[in-house]
Amino acid sequence: MDIDKIMKELTLAEKAYLVSGNSSWTVGRIEGAGIPEIFVSDGPYGLRKQDTDTAEIYDSIDAVAFPTSAATASSFDKDLMFEIGTALGKECQAEDVAVILGPAVNIKRSPLCGRNFEYISEDPYVAGEMSAALINGVQSQDVGTSLKHFAANNQETERMYASSDMDERTLREIYLAGFETAVKKSDPWTLMCSYNRINGTYASENKWLLTDVLRDEWGYDGLVMSDWGAVSDRIKGIAAGLDLEMPGSGGVNDARIVEAVETGKLAEEDLDKAVRNVLNLIEKYHSKKREEVFDRDKDHEIAVHAEEESIVLLKNEDVLPIKADEKIAIIGGFADNPRFQGGGSSHINAHNIVSAVSVADSFGSFTYTEGFPYDGDRMSDEMKQQAVEAAKNADKVVVFAGLPDAYESEAYDRSHMRLPECQNILIDELLKLSKPVIIVLHNGSPVEMPWAEYVDGIVEAYLGGEGVGEAVMKVLYGKVNPSGKLAESFPKKVEDNPSYLSYLGQNHRCNYSEGIFVGYRYYDTKKMDVLFPFGFGLSYTTFNYSNLKVSVGGSAVSGAVDINADKIAVSVDVTNTGNMAGKEIVQLYISDKTKAAIRPVHELKGFEKIALNPGETGTVSFELDKRSFAWFNEAISDWYAAGGEYVIEIGKSSRDIVLTETIEVKGDAPVLPVIDMDVQIGDLLKNDITKNVVLRVMKEEIQKFSGSDGLEVTDMDPMTYAMLQYLPIRTLRSFTHMTNERVESIVAALKEEVEKVSR
Ligand code: BGC
Repeated sequence: MDIDKIMKELTLAEKAYLVSGNSSWTVGRIEGAGIPEIFVSDGPYGLRKQDTDTAEIYDSIDAVAFPTSAATASSFDKDLMFEIGTALGKECQAEDVAVILGPAVNIKRSPLCGRNFEYISEDPYVAGEMSAALINGVQSQDVGTSLKHFAANNQETERMYASSDMDERTLREIYLAGFETAVKKSDPWTLMCSYNRINGTYASENKWLLTDVLRDEWGYDGLVMSDWGAVSDRIKGIAAGLDLEMPGSGGVNDARIVEAVETGKLAEEDLDKAVRNVLNLIEKYHSKKREEVFDRDKDHEIAVHAEEESIVLLKNEDVLPIKADEKIAIIGGFADNPRFQGGGSSHINAHNIVSAVSVADSFGSFTYTEGFPYDGDRMSDEMKQQAVEAAKNADKVVVFAGLPDAYESEAYDRSHMRLPECQNILIDELLKLSKPVIIVLHNGSPVEMPWAEYVDGIVEAYLGGEGVGEAVMKVLYGKVNPSGKLAESFPKKVEDNPSYLSYLGQNHRCNYSEGIFVGYRYYDTKKMDVLFPFGFGLSYTTFNYSNLKVSVGGSAVSGAVDINADKIAVSVDVTNTGNMAGKEIVQLYISDKTKAAIRPVHELKGFEKIALNPGETGTVSFELDKRSFAWFNEAISDWYAAGGEYVIEIGKSSRDIVLTETIEVKGDAPVLPVIDMDVQIGDLLKNDITKNVVLRVMKEEIQKFSGSDGLEVTDMDPMTYAMLQYLPIRTLRSFTHMTNERVESIVAALKEEVEKVSR
């Protein structure tokens, strides 16, 4: 397509027509102008391609359900994400889908968000890195992605109406950072704006978000589409940078757009930008469209493998792996009917669902008893009794527990964090038999586990995709050594979650009052007990970490590192000290000791997964840059890292830091206080520029007052010195003999020094 030429020839009505979907899933097509159509489909972890406009949400093509993002996030494996993405991209090519609507990278602010299973992490670094890898995989197949839901969509309650309210630092550090990484590292063809408002303005009309930050700051030049039905005022949306409304509005907004341009309410250049972005997207897809085969059986194997890499072993009191000659009692409806995906727009019409029961024969001797159903909270006495009898005759008991479908879904939130009560009751009954009990969990987000202390094994399978049954059995029997770690904290109870007091908000406004203290940033800083910490997961082997090295330009760090100029290389050796091949996820956290800002006790800034045979040692490397140390400083509207000490921590989880090294950083210039008569003396003493002026003046005053030449500021008694810090400078005229003129002249001198620096 010659886009420049087409742009010149399009009528205003045609332009208005192009900036919204012409059906639920299609965009474009003006035959006379030579513009073809493209098709988009959900996303994010399988292809939900619907044939017609009228299709019911669960009526989509036969496709492969990969593990949900909650599961694959636990793999911490960027190569795996790329592999899944590549498979999805090929499926899209085969099905003529130009854009798959995912990944979804919203932060798991609360375990109760109904859509957490689709989201990656409570940590923006993990969300950004893992989604970038998936996007790069999909787009390697010349098919686009839609990074969603931009932004701050962290609850389903009132998702189309409520406002997520927070300060800019919280937005930047927690709720935008994952999007920023994905945009910069993988350049998604499209972004999808969220339904909610942010600080009062709908994301779909938010110029600050869609243009100032996304395009002007991050350099994004792709297309922004709306979430389905997220457009309130289309004209404001176009001016703000929302290119495409999905689906269409039945022509209503087309007419409004034409009228707005004709009456000067909307600049035609703004509409043109949107039209051009739509045309670029259509061209991008069609110019590289090719024949491809949707090999469902092959992709099913990828789905099984992905789940094997993602399962998290949370507890193992010498009970796993199960030996082939042990008799096991499999109990729980999820063993026969696994819950492997969540409800809503991500729902896949799965190709080949593998339950644990259907493959158990090939692993060892077992019985299966339903115990409790997979789809509700009902258990008759008879069902309970049958389960107990089965357990009596077994060497080990494996309970397949989890959340029924209706407990978590898109469009509403969970009201509590518990499993159905019948499951807890049955687990308690089984524990009375004094047999080893192992729990396998099928859930999209954390659950309370009142029995965690008493059971012998816990396997977190999450919603593990259509091959979950096979992957779980392989882990239980040691055919696969579990290697996943949690990409989110499991609090002991929902009340412990930092958003608990304000989650869901009131009067349609959700105040993110916990600020940057989300997930482990809160629990670790508070030194609070959790059920399982962020980054935690066990293996059937053991790993030892040694030889932490921190260097710049090939030499060990000595003296202060200028992080604005240099990158820091960190490496650590990991040895498999057990007798089974396994994989370890090595985590790097940074702890800011400068006290320049309120910060979490540490933040994740690197992770790598390494495969090691028994006895083998391998080296894991990381690279740190300015951003690894920085926080968003609202005083300068930019990322900022203070000079001073930082600790580089290498951990097996956020709560198990095994090696550390403290480094000195030459950071950004200190942010100088605003100089006026109200400036506090303590703020003036925090940086050398104003401090020198204050000390000089104080010295003069002390000497004048004491009549002695020899007195220094340091001779002032410590109490007076300490109290001085919170005094606005103007109070010197009240509490000392200084005249107003003298104080004003000091302020003028301070201003001059500060101006010199900023010049
Ligand atoms: C969801 C999106 C989805 C879209 C299309 C919306 O309700 O929030 O994630 O891509 O529907 O199905």
